[in-house]
Amino acid sequence: MNWNQGVRQFHRWVSLVFTLTVIANFAAMAMNGGQAPMWIVYAPLPPLFLLLFSGLYLFVRPYLGRRGTFG
Ligand code: HEM
Repeated sequence: MNWNQGVRQFHRWVSLVFTLTVIANFAAMAMNGGQAPMWIVYAPLPPLFLLLFSGLYLFVRPYLGRRGTFG
């Protein structure tokens, strides 16, 4: 597995975790009169942060050339 595939796989799995934390927010709000516990409210932020950087890498990847920087 090369670097590009690894980052793509990472982005894919973290996006799943992110989606689950968002669903947990809706579930917690529905069960608790519109007010989710703070740790659930902020739970999507760490995976979103990881998605931002791995996503930006995937975005610039095609412009780096076939075996260029970070090849
Ligand atoms: C936060 C900023 C994000 C950026 C900058 C970003 C950027 C990207 C880029 C550039 C790609 C590759 C597209 C391609 O050329 O094929 C990609 C793929 C993908 N993104 Fe993101 N993304 C972000 C967040 C997210 C989020 C929030 C989700 C879902 C909850 C997500 C899910 C995916 C998935 C599933 C793929 C396909 C990965 C694969 O190849 O299997 N991304 N993203």
